[in-house]
Amino acid sequence: MARIIGGIGTTHVPSIGKAIAEGKQNDPYWRPFFSGFDRVHEWLSREKPDVAVVFYNDHGLNFFLDKLPTFAVGAAAEYRNEDEGWGIPVSQAVAGIPDLSWHLIDRLVADEFDITMCQDMLVDHAVTIPLSLMWPGPARYPVKIVPVAINTVQHPLPSLARCFKLGQSIGRALETYDRDLKVVVVGTGGLSHQLDGERAGFINKEFDQLCMNALANEPETLMRYSIPQFVEHSGAQGVEFINWMAMRGALTGKVLELHRNYHIPISNTAAATMLFENRPVAARLQSRSADLALS
Ligand code: DHB
Ligand code: FE
Repeated sequence: MARIIGGIGTTHVPSIGKAIAEGKQNDPYWRPFFSGFDRVHEWLSREKPDVAVVFYNDHGLNFFLDKLPTFAVGAAAEYRNEDEGWGIPVSQAVAGIPDLSWHLIDRLVADEFDITMCQDMLVDHAVTIPLSLMWPGPARYPVKIVPVAINTVQHPLPSLARCFKLGQSIGRALETYDRDLKVVVVGTGGLSHQLDGERAGFINKEFDQLCMNALANEPETLMRYSIPQFVEHSGAQGVEFINWMAMRGALTGKVLELHRNYHIPISNTAAATMLFENRPVAARLQSRSADLALS
């Protein structure tokens, strides 16, 4: 059985790629942000996940406004990045795991999520930046990925509740996958930011703190925000937080916040990093009854 070992939420600002390419991780501007990943690196090198399911939004590299699925799941053997025009190097390709992708797609459709399935899919900075933050250095990433793209661009967007339920469905599907894999789920983007219009540069620290606290302890309470209300509080691109809702929904067990970092700003964005451990409740009970049987 696949095991969901934890979840990571992280910003995906493209200029992070430029900072990495130029080795600026210890510059005063960047240090408070990059140091927020030390704890994530420790955890990843100890836990060694095999697979990352990445909830993210495409910004026009693979989908554009002419055809934009609400939810799309990758089912490719490999995912490439291309030049997105941010002036950052094109990232290495990332390995997929088609058999697991198809299992998730089967279970999602059975669960009435009528997703778009993609056997050919480019992944943009919303996947590549988080991967390069989680596994820095030139080596190939030590995980295979299942990318799950959520529309945060062309309204109407799926609600926070819908994204949480999508995550729950994927969590249940992972637990019925019959290969023994360790899975980390990742939600990218956010927190508050707005890149254009009258409120360009908008950041809302109080609301970000509320979102992070609720995500850790009572994620359902966030479902009371409609998408327009969420945009009002968090900015037009702050709504990328729906990717974090999906990540949190996929944590099916007892969830423990292990770490968070919050820093304003990175480029135009309030940058947040959160690490959650997922303790599978059933497995814990099983091992406890096995202990009792032995004693
Ligand atoms: C920025 C933030 C984003 O989420 C994004 O997709 C692109 C740019 C920024 O703050 O610069
Ligand atoms: Fe973005």
